[in-house]
Amino acid sequence: MKMTALSELSITQYRTEHRVLISQVLANIGWERRYIDGQLQAIDAFAGDAENCRVFVASLSDHFAGYVSIQFYAWNRLAQIHGLAVDPSLQGRGIASRLVKRAEDFVVTKRGRGVYVDTPVTNTGAREFYLKQGYKQDYVMTAYYDNDLDGVTYLKFLDLSPM
Ligand SMILES: CC(C)(COP(=O)(O)OP(=O)(O)OC[C@H]1O[C@@H](n2cnc3c(N)ncnc32)[C@H](O)[C@@H]1OP(=O)(O)O)[C@@H](O)C(=O)NCCC(=O)NCCS
Repeated sequence: MKMTALSELSITQYRTEHRVLISQVLANIGWERRYIDGQLQAIDAFAGDAENCRVFVASLSDHFAGYVSIQFYAWNRLAQIHGLAVDPSLQGRGIASRLVKRAEDFVVTKRGRGVYVDTPVTNTGAREFYLKQGYKQDYVMTAYYDNDLDGVTYLKFLDLSPM
């Protein structure tokens, strides 16, 4: 795809027709089928919880670009990013930054205190990405993933001062 200005980026709420497009992005990234199915099941559940969950999708000039899914927990007023992916052909253009900002804006509307996210320690690209968005590394979870891979949690507290 030719370089397209981010002004042509649209971010909207997930609809059922996006399901197959998310599946394709995750396949393009190289995810195994079982992980894609797990992610799609979570998205199905999120789509049914309008109070505490959001899935936002990004399209760049009519090309489906990626998504973010987030769940807000009322008990501690923190939210967790469950999924974030941008198609490899469209990475490096600021699309994930915009998706995460939209997810954080949702958390602010819930008067949430912050956002956290887990990723494999080996996912250096995502780790750099979260640092760039102002997240701080919080803790490492030994063998968090089923192949004995450690996980690392990034956390960002949000500014809740009145505008
Ligand atoms: C991580 C991911 C979502 C980033 O998407 P993206 O749209 O390319 O990210 P952005 O363009 O908004 O990146 C913003 C900044 O993050 C940093 N960053 C993003 N990807 C990076 C990478 N692979 N390596 C190093 N830094 C990276 C850069 O500082 C970048 O700013 P710059 O382009 O001005 O240098 C994307 O690479 C992806 O889908 N990866 C596979 C799935 C995944 O790992 N998801 C996260 C799981 S929790």
